[in-house]
Amino acid sequence: MLVTIEGIDGSGKSTLLARLRELLADLDPVFTREPGATWVGESVRRAVAERMDPITEALLFCADHAAHIDTLIRPALDEGRLVISDRYSDSRFAYQPVVLDGILPDPLPWLRAIHDGWSVRPDRTFLLVLPVEDAVSRLDPKKQREYFENAGILARVQENYLTLAAADPTRFVVVDALLEKEEVAGFIADEIRTGVRSSRSRPRA
Ligand code: TYD
Repeated sequence: MLVTIEGIDGSGKSTLLARLRELLADLDPVFTREPGATWVGESVRRAVAERMDPITEALLFCADHAAHIDTLIRPALDEGRLVISDRYSDSRFAYQPVVLDGILPDPLPWLRAIHDGWSVRPDRTFLLVLPVEDAVSRLDPKKQREYFENAGILARVQENYLTLAAADPTRFVVVDALLEKEEVAGFIADEIRTGVRSSRSRPRA
């Protein structure tokens, strides 16, 4: 079963993932992330840091995804493991249309077409949602900020996430990230357990 965790910068994914590692330890999940599950992620980080052109950046995020699927996601799913990824394809579908706005006429279908035929669809996606001001105030000011970490851009990214979630309500679970951390983690851990139980009772398609 493939579970993905999505949300804008500052939505609390890192804290949540640390807690899920503890709460779900008995299920022995494979925890992974995008970008950066393989060395291809280093080229993505470099492109972002050097503000390479947005097309290059988008394609590198896609290349990172392809390497991630080939080296980690598919083998783990084939072994019947539970895989939990911190960011995945919905990060592309939420962030890159904002970054590519004005560069491509219609970025989302272009991004989707790049994924068609080889990407693996998540079984369940948890989307952490919170007011953008709260997300920005949670960002560590000492950490160098990626250029999309500003309120105007994050607001548009979150809008894109919510549109994706509304279009695919059986896969997405929208979670209020302002709730108590322990409540958020406990709820998501329970949902994942329920999903794992039902996926084990039916053969993988
Ligand atoms: P990362 O450094 O992992 O940040 P976080 O800890 O918030 O997950 O991710 C780098 C940034 O890259 C983050 O702001 C989201 C963005 N991103 C995209 O724009 N497109 C993508 O496809 C992915 C996976 C991330």
